[in-house]
This record gives sequence, C-alpha cells and structure tokens, in this order.
Amino acid sequence: MNKHPDVLCAGIIVADHVCTPIDHLPAAGELVMADHFLLTIGGCAANAAVDLAKMGVNAAVVGRVGGDIFGRIVADLLKESGVEVSSLQVSPKAETSQTLIVNVRGQDRRFIHSFGANAEFGAVDIPLERLKQSKILYVGGYLVMPGLRDEGLAQVFAVAREAGVKTVLDLVTPGPGDYLPRLEQVLPHVDVFLPNNHEAQLITGESDPLRQAERFRALGAHTVVITMGGDGSVLVSERLRLRAGVYPIEFVDGSGGGDAFDAGYIYGLLQGIETEDCLRVASALGASCVRAIGTTPGVFTRAECETFLRQHTLKIERL
Ligand SMILES: Nc1ncnc2c1ncn2[C@@H]1O[C@H](COP(=O)(O)OP(=O)(O)OP(=O)(O)O)[C@@H](O)[C@H]1O
Ligand SMILES: [Mg+2]
Repeated sequence: MNKHPDVLCAGIIVADHVCTPIDHLPAAGELVMADHFLLTIGGCAANAAVDLAKMGVNAAVVGRVGGDIFGRIVADLLKESGVEVSSLQVSPKAETSQTLIVNVRGQDRRFIHSFGANAEFGAVDIPLERLKQSKILYVGGYLVMPGLRDEGLAQVFAVAREAGVKTVLDLVTPGPGDYLPRLEQVLPHVDVFLPNNHEAQLITGESDPLRQAERFRALGAHTVVITMGGDGSVLVSERLRLRAGVYPIEFVDGSGGGDAFDAGYIYGLLQGIETEDCLRVASALGASCVRAIGTTPGVFTRAECETFLRQHTLKIERL
C-alpha cells in the first residue's frame, strides 16, 4: 500500500457487538437465544475508512482505542478491510468504545454505548505531516467528542487547506445544545459539510433542509449537503442548489448510511467528478449500506457501485 493515504478519516472508532433479531427482550433473569452475534467495527471514522477502502481508496483512520482486546480486534478488522492504522492511537487509560446493538424482531434497534477512548480524541491527534501529504481530511462525529475542541479543529482544517487538502466534516449531536457558536469557528475552514436534517434542525432551528443548508453556507461552509435518510438529500454550494432523491433499495438497517454517503462523496471529490455525480456515488453508497445489517457489510465495492450506477437513475432537480 502507498505510504501516504489519500484520505485521513478522523474521529469516532467503536467496537460494535450486534445480535441477529431476538423474539423479545429478556425479562430480568431470563435468557433469550440469538442465532448469531457479530463483533464488528463502528464509529464514523472507522466506517468511512472501511467504505473508502471498499471503493479502492487508500484511507487511514485517525483516532483512539483502548489497550484492550477490543482495541486489538478493531485494529485487526480495519487492517483486514485494507485500512491503514498507523495513526490509530492506543489510550493508556481508557477502554475501547463499545456499542451493544440489540435487535428485537419487528422493533427499532436498542443501543447500549460506552464512550471510552473516543472521549480523549483531540485535534492534536491528527498528524500534521501525514495530513499535508494526503488529499482529503474527513472528520466524523464532531460535537459529540468532548476532547475535540473547536479552535483546535479549526486550526487543523486551516493547515489542511493551506496545504491544498480538502476538508470534509460530519457530526453527531448529543441532544439539544448551543452549537451554532461552535460551528461558526469551524465552518469557514470546511469544504464539504454533511449533517443529517435532524442534526441540522437541532443546530439551526430551521426545519426546511434548503434553509438549513443556507444557514451553514452563511457561516462559511463551502458546500453543504443535508441528508434526509429515505427522503434523499439537498446540496447547496456557491453556484448550485440541488435536491436528490434516493436509489430504490430494500431498507434493512439505517446505521452507517450517513458515513457511507460521506465516503461516496469523498470518492467523487478524489475523482474530480461533477457535483451531481458526487451526489450519485454518495447516494448509491448510502443506499447500499442500509440494505444490510451493520454499518459497513452492505456497502458497495467499486465494481458493484459502477455497475449499480450504470443500471439506475437518481432523480436530481435544480432548486
Ligand atoms: N431508505 C433508504 N433508501 C435509499 N437510500 C437511503 C435510505 N436511507 C438512507 N439512504 C441514503 O443514505 C443517505 C444518508 O442517510 P441518512 O440521512 O440516514 O444519514 P445519517 O442520519 O447520517 O445516518 P447514520 O448516522 O446512521 O450514518 C441518504 O441521504 C440517502 O442517500
Ligand atoms: Mg450521520
């Protein structure tokens, strides 16, 4: 593999424990059988890196795990997926972040989560020399990581842009809060900002995705894409206002859809294709993700994605 990854994916890294759907939630003292358990990778940074690797992109993760067995498993799984892990740091104190994903037949998923080493992740963990040699810096899970301060992130993004590296930001909002002042610092350094519509509403107070995107543009983001699950996405840039639908797919599990969409958009940026085509690849990867359980197993490889794009049309209208 190339010594210099094209994309650094920084942020949340998690070990996910998932069970296949059980009949009902066990009562106190009861044992319920699941057919299978899966120990897999989760967290925005890890998901996006794996999705990019599936698309044939040299991607590295930047983040923190604990010095425990789960951290080692996460690193092994990332390596097996073709992701570069030399900037994956091992926390001397904290455990690997973990999520227990409990699927019950016919019900929405339940999550039990420990924040672990992700709480320690900060902008100083992003290696500047490696960053300058890359093409894109992606940060996922901004706002939910207490150690990732706004000034620090803004500075790293500024260094990236100075070196000609594009900056891509996604976030996770930990409930209601006063997030606008935090975004004011960071968004002027962001090339592509990709929140979902619920997060955007929490931050801006606007319910209309076009208005949400315009607010973020006014704060300095160059291109804003608001994703809306099965309702598609809205993109606003300097010259374009687009609304994309979705590719038809049998929906199974929404987790990781946003990260896959981000990975698709990043792939498009690397290829230097038109904005509409970036939306097509992003929407195809998002759709491929949500047709299977888990955050990355369903995501298309590059060959699958190319075949799918040839066979399907995405409705994109100019607004
Ligand atoms: N049911 C669906 N059918 C087709 N495409 C979908 C569906 N759900 C999501 N997608 C695609 O994936 C994109 C991202 O999904 P979504 O808005 O749910 O991201 P998200 O909320 O950030 O997800 P997560 O945080 O779980 O990764 C959508 O804009 C769409 O293109
Ligand atoms: Mg998301």
